[in-house]
This record gives sequence, C-alpha cells and structure tokens, in this order.
Amino acid sequence: MTTLLTRQEAIALDQSDPFAGKRQEFALEDGKIYLCGNSLGPMPKRVVETVHNTLTEDWAKGLITSQNTAGWWLLSDTLGNRLAALLGADAEEVVVSDSTGLNIYKTLHAALSMQSGRNTIVSELSSFPTDLYMIEGVASLLNHVNIKLAGRDADTIEQLIDDDTAVVLVNQVDYRSGEICDIKSLTALAHSHGALVISDVCHSAGAIPVNFHEENVDFAVGCMYKYLNGGPGAPAFVYAAKRHHGKFKQPLTGWHGHAEPFKFEPGYRAAQGANAFLTGTQPTLSQVAMSAGLDVIADVDMHDLYDKGKRLSEIFANLIEHWCTSYGIGFYSPKDVNKRNGQVSLTHQNGYSIIQALIARGVTGDFRQPNIMRFGITPLFLRYVDVWDAAHHLKEVLETNEWQEERFNRKNLVT
Ligand SMILES: Cc1ncc(COP(=O)(O)O)c(C=O)c1O
Repeated sequence: MTTLLTRQEAIALDQSDPFAGKRQEFALEDGKIYLCGNSLGPMPKRVVETVHNTLTEDWAKGLITSQNTAGWWLLSDTLGNRLAALLGADAEEVVVSDSTGLNIYKTLHAALSMQSGRNTIVSELSSFPTDLYMIEGVASLLNHVNIKLAGRDADTIEQLIDDDTAVVLVNQVDYRSGEICDIKSLTALAHSHGALVISDVCHSAGAIPVNFHEENVDFAVGCMYKYLNGGPGAPAFVYAAKRHHGKFKQPLTGWHGHAEPFKFEPGYRAAQGANAFLTGTQPTLSQVAMSAGLDVIADVDMHDLYDKGKRLSEIFANLIEHWCTSYGIGFYSPKDVNKRNGQVSLTHQNGYSIIQALIARGVTGDFRQPNIMRFGITPLFLRYVDVWDAAHHLKEVLETNEWQEERFNRKNLVT
C-alpha cells in the first residue's frame, strides 16, 4: 500500500506525468472532477471540427456521393480496423456495428450455431442486465438451451463449465466493482471442455490492456462510449476470431452483412470475417464522432496508461480508507489494485445522496443499487490532484452531513 499523499505531492506527480498533455485534448470544465468516464467518456475537442466538416461538407455538399468520397460506407470497417490495432486483433476480425446488446444477441446465436449437441449457456448472475436479458431472449427462442449462472447455480463460473457447455458469456471487467476476470485462464478452461467464449469488454477496452489473440477468446463485444470516448450513443463493436470466420451463423442478416450488398440479391450470403455480423445502415454521424475518440487514444501504450490508472486508483482508495471508513464507507471493489480496472466502488447506505452532494460540489460519480457509489478512474484525462481533491470532497461531505440536505435526496431517473 502506498503512503498517504499530500496535495502538493499530487501536484508534483502531475508535473511529471507523461499523459498530462492528453487532458488538453478533451473539453473538460475547470474546477470539475469527472469520475464517470466509465459510463460516458468526455468529449474530445477535435470532435467538433470532425462532425462540423461531415455536416457542412460531406452531408450538405457531397450528399449521397459521400458514401464513397467520404468513406461513409466503409466506416464500420475502417473504425473496426483501428480498434483491432488497440485490442490485439487483426483488421478483418473487428467491425463496428449496432449496440453491445445487439452484438451479444448475434454472437450468442453465432456461438450456438457452431456447437450442435451442446445445450448450455454459462454466465454470471452479477453480469450487466442486458447480457442476462439477451441470454434469456435467445434461450426463449431455442427450446433446447439451458442457462447456468454463477452466483445462482454455483459459486464460480469455472464450476459451471462442463462438456455440455456451448458458450460462456463473461465480462472481462465487472461493471459494478471494476474487478478484472482472468479471461485467458477462463478461456483455456472453457476450451478444454469444448466450449466457446464471448468476452464483454465494455469496462476493459480503453481501461486495461486487452489482447483478443493472447486471451484466445472466440468472440467479443464492447461499447465505444465509455473508456474509448466515442460519444453518447456511439455504436458498439464485435470481434470474431479468424479461426471461426465463415463457420458461424447469426440471425440478423441485413444487407450490410451480405457478401455483395450492391448485387441486391434476394438470397443471403454472409460477408467475410467479422463483417458477417453487420446488419443494416449505421448512424454515420455517431461513427464520425467516435473516430475523434479513437484519435486521442491511438498513440497510447495501454500498459503505461493502465499503470497510471492503478497509481491514481491506489491514491484515491488510500485516502478514502484513511479519511472515510469511520463514516460507514465500505469497499465494494477488490482492495488489491491489480485486481480492478482502476474503478473504485464504495458502499454506503446513503450512497445515492452522497453522490448527489458530490455532484453539487463538481465531483461526478454515479450510484448503482442497492448501495454502491462508483468512481471511474480514467487516466487519459484525470490528474493526480483530481483524485486527491475528489477524496477530500467525499471526506467533507461525510464530515458535514451535507448529503442529508433534502435536495440531495430527490431521486433522478438516471442515477
Ligand atoms: C458490461 C456491459 N454490457 C452491456 C451493456 C449494454 O450496452 P448497450 O446498452 O449499449 O447495448 C453495458 C452498458 O453499459 C455494459 O456496461
């Protein structure tokens, strides 16, 4: 455990931070501390010009010809290629498409289509609800499919994997706690039983080093709007390992996933590689916007960035442990910094109101039922002094009982 830092020492760390310049690439307001980059990343400044150009030149003047001249038609591919470089994959293995939820639906079907005779989907009860709902939806259409969940049918996901397992859908990082799963070992275990693995990387892509080839996962899905700063509602992405290309089927067979869409054939023939997961027309403006997020992270070494994230996370956690535990604050994230993606999740029975009081002070975190306060640690734009100040604000909110004010107890739709 590192010793407790002073604010001056935090400022000194910022002065020697090799990522310090990255913060300038985002539109972040002075005096605000944004600890929700694990939910929606901040806006890269360059997105304004990028989208403005698309509106005023490519849409206003180029109109439909921009499908060719501005590369609109190929954006799912070109963005997928850039992601592949970041996520340890080859270009034809990643494509940008639809939402994470829809990609889960497609990859679950794809994996099941390759596993005849196997009937079980294994996942985690603590998974993000969409993952569970998609599993339920798929199983409701395929009568032979069973669902086994860690936390309900056994303690751990490893205990559930057997020779009947068709596919394991697992989060590389847990959205509530930030806990990292050893996806490489889990995949090796699943493969030893003949099962396939789909990795949900929503909370790992852009936060920790992700390498699909090294992890040897079969499929992966993830979103762009969190650590990859692609903007609100940015389309998601899907990975399909090359060894499975041409071997899986997915049910949402639209014209963008056709081998030759401009032949307008009445029958479906799947496109090559991960492009077989494409369905229909994508939100071009959102795709253009997300390219700006990729520009910011493109030259970053993810190992170095994760190291900075761990330092920030440890400093924040140490300060809180020292200052706040006597006020009923508990740790929900793993205490070992190497086991979390940077995110620090704390518990308190009045967590919702405490988060509202922090937001009023300019420190944005979020709240998840029943009592979890999440603080996203995103080293691309956060400074050491930010995490120091955020912990100090939390201490003051607790010390003064500020969170008890009536205005902090009104429930918002989004928490
Ligand atoms: C881990 C995880 N999986 C899936 C989803 C669902 O993503 P979407 O609503 O974009 O389909 C989310 C959303 O936050 C998530 O955090």
